[in-house]
Amino acid sequence: MKIAIGNDHGGVELKRHLVQYLEGKGFEVVNFGSDVTESTDYPIYAERVSKAVVSGECDKGILICGTGIGISISANKIHGVRCALCSEPVSAQLARQHNDANIVAMGARTIGPVMAEGIVDVFMSTEFQGGRHQRRVDKIMMLDRGESVQ
Ligand code: RB5
Repeated sequence: MKIAIGNDHGGVELKRHLVQYLEGKGFEVVNFGSDVTESTDYPIYAERVSKAVVSGECDKGILICGTGIGISISANKIHGVRCALCSEPVSAQLARQHNDANIVAMGARTIGPVMAEGIVDVFMSTEFQGGRHQRRVDKIMMLDRGESVQ
């Protein structure tokens, strides 16, 4: 599996940790993030990772900013993205099983490296359950295309 990862200045350290962790597990990781702690703008990295995932260049994405909020909001503006902000592994599991999330976002100021490892482990290994959840994801994608689901 090929993973796109991106971060702003707040996520440099956690990004480095996760790249090393995931590569150690055999994943191919493409770094679209900032590697310096100089202040920058998270939508830049949300767009890069989102486009890599939506185009099929990468299978899944990881986004990190201070809280994970700005970068996940930004990613969800890109057509085809279903980005879930997670602070623990159960949400990451359900984001895959129920929402078919293709990007996980995390906050470097709100979670530590061990929690982040648990989140990415589950996110990368859990399959979408389909069934009734497919119907709901289809409606999410209708909203994504500007169509009504009423
Ligand atoms: C940057 O200062 C900070 O606002 C950003 O990393 C993130 O927390 C935004 O949601």
